[in-house]
Amino acid sequence: MVIPDGYSEVPPGKLASVVTCLHMLACAPIRAERADPPWQLRRVTSPAADWYRALFARVGEEWMWFSRLTLPVTSLEAILRDPAVEVYALSAGGRDEGLLELDLREAGQCELAFFGLTHAMLGQGAGRWLMNRALELAWAHPIKRLWVHTCTLDHPNGLSFYLRSGFKPYERRIEVADDPRILGLVPRTAGPHIPIIET
Ligand SMILES: CC(C)(COP(=O)(O)OP(=O)(O)OC[C@H]1O[C@@H](n2cnc3c(N)ncnc32)[C@H](O)[C@@H]1OP(=O)(O)O)[C@@H](O)C(=O)NCCC(=O)NCCS
Repeated sequence: MVIPDGYSEVPPGKLASVVTCLHMLACAPIRAERADPPWQLRRVTSPAADWYRALFARVGEEWMWFSRLTLPVTSLEAILRDPAVEVYALSAGGRDEGLLELDLREAGQCELAFFGLTHAMLGQGAGRWLMNRALELAWAHPIKRLWVHTCTLDHPNGLSFYLRSGFKPYERRIEVADDPRILGLVPRTAGPHIPIIET
């Protein structure tokens, strides 16, 4: 379907976001990072759905990440158990405070499927440090492309952060979905930058 020029009405109860897809076709240079970071990265093999959902929510709730919250537990666990899906947690002070998920299920490429920090970790260099680890881990595989998408619901710094990381934008999409706050998937206080519109 071609989206017509001009304004398109979005029904009450729905969210619309502009999605930017970005990729890199070779590993971008690793950028300068904090020398003695007070955090570590650990791989979580076959994570339990409860643990995963809790971290996913703590990182993404503010930005209305909902895709993984609509999946039945069995479907989510099937993805997380797949050896081609790598889940990592950034932990600080004994707590998991960041999520990095690499999806290598499609041969020759990797999707940076989920990447983010909890609110408490923002603006301290942890994002850059985590991106450097993501690039090293992804490009250690025999891939030709690493891609990611971000949307206008995400942190406003996300897109410029990905551009500085060496990703090049190649496609724009419009995503329309039920507002996860109205569905009760995330609290109604989530995503205060996007007001709720309902009938
Ligand atoms: C996108 C996201 C990971 C960026 O993280 P961030 O905490 O804002 O970014 P950082 O503070 O690590 O990095 C910003 C810059 O400041 C620098 N910096 C910040 N604090 C620093 C410090 N104490 N010492 C050295 N450098 C520091 C970083 O090196 C980096 O520089 P560069 O980008 O020029 O290389 C973060 O906003 C996030 O998790 N958002 C929520 C989820 C989300 O929207 N994800 C992305 C879209 S899917």
